[in-house]
Amino acid sequence: MENLKKKVEVLRESFREALGSVRGLEELEKLRVRYLGRKGEITLLFKLLKELDPNERREAGALLNTLKEEVQEALNLKKEELKKARGREKVDLTLPGREYSLGGLHPLTAVLEEMIEIFVGLGFKVEEGPEIEWDFYNFEALNIPPHHPARDMWSTLFITEKMMLRTHTSPVQVRVMEREKPPLRFISPGRVYRKDAFDASHSPAFYQLEGLYVDKKVTFSDLKGTLELFARELFGSNTRVKFVPSYFPFTEPSAEMSVNWGKGWLELVGCGMVHPAVFNAVGLDPDEWTGYAFGVGVDRVAMIKLGIDDIRLFYENDLRFLRRYLR
Ligand code: DAH
Repeated sequence: MENLKKKVEVLRESFREALGSVRGLEELEKLRVRYLGRKGEITLLFKLLKELDPNERREAGALLNTLKEEVQEALNLKKEELKKARGREKVDLTLPGREYSLGGLHPLTAVLEEMIEIFVGLGFKVEEGPEIEWDFYNFEALNIPPHHPARDMWSTLFITEKMMLRTHTSPVQVRVMEREKPPLRFISPGRVYRKDAFDASHSPAFYQLEGLYVDKKVTFSDLKGTLELFARELFGSNTRVKFVPSYFPFTEPSAEMSVNWGKGWLELVGCGMVHPAVFNAVGLDPDEWTGYAFGVGVDRVAMIKLGIDDIRLFYENDLRFLRRYLR
């Protein structure tokens, strides 16, 4: 009898502990089976009653019944509790879903990528250069010595006397020619900076795409052919181009290519044959090497392609504008 009493105590204690750590309805059911199931611990104790003296049997039976009721009660309470908690967490399937909007390319990026693809298709590699540039690369090596009036062609943003935000992508020509031996054929797209007002046709930061081809016996007709092909790929096969004489310190002769795809002529590209002084600056013999170079105004191209007359739209990040051109 004493033995049974002790067992009841131990069971009561272990049940309480187990109940405390139950986390869900399934665990609770397992616990019920462990104590009250057909082979449960309490059920087994009842089977011991037979072995007791008949006069002890009544007291023991009462003891076990109390324990059983207690356990049953506790299980029921816990079940209610868990059901309530689950109700609170229940997913409301009638709620509308959350909308996720996909990102897209900025219209300038999209047009720039299209331009890059055309040149890559023509065999040009893609090179990059720093946006903070030394005077040497931005000016001097491009045949624009200090105090030369040609510097006035670019309203420069200086960081120190010898360091600036690059005013064009042409310094990449110098960096690559310094580093690699010809033949060279690459483009270099990127951001450039000028001390300009922010108005419909100017932005202090904008994009250019530079191109350089250096080899033996490169001619002006190579340049014309390549740029004409580029224009037709970009604006359609009926596009007409014209070359007008111009001046750039780093090319001789120099020209500007205008494009007419139906609505009048538009200057889009500065270009020319690489100036001997530029070859000298990078240690290439101008009698051995020839080349052409060009610089395209990316924003201008994008404005024409998208039919926009204000460059500021590209830099104001107004989603109403940007969404119109998402592809
Ligand atoms: N760097 C010139 C500019 O920013 C554009 C240019 C003209 C680039 C002629 C060239 C070139 O490579 O040959 O105005």
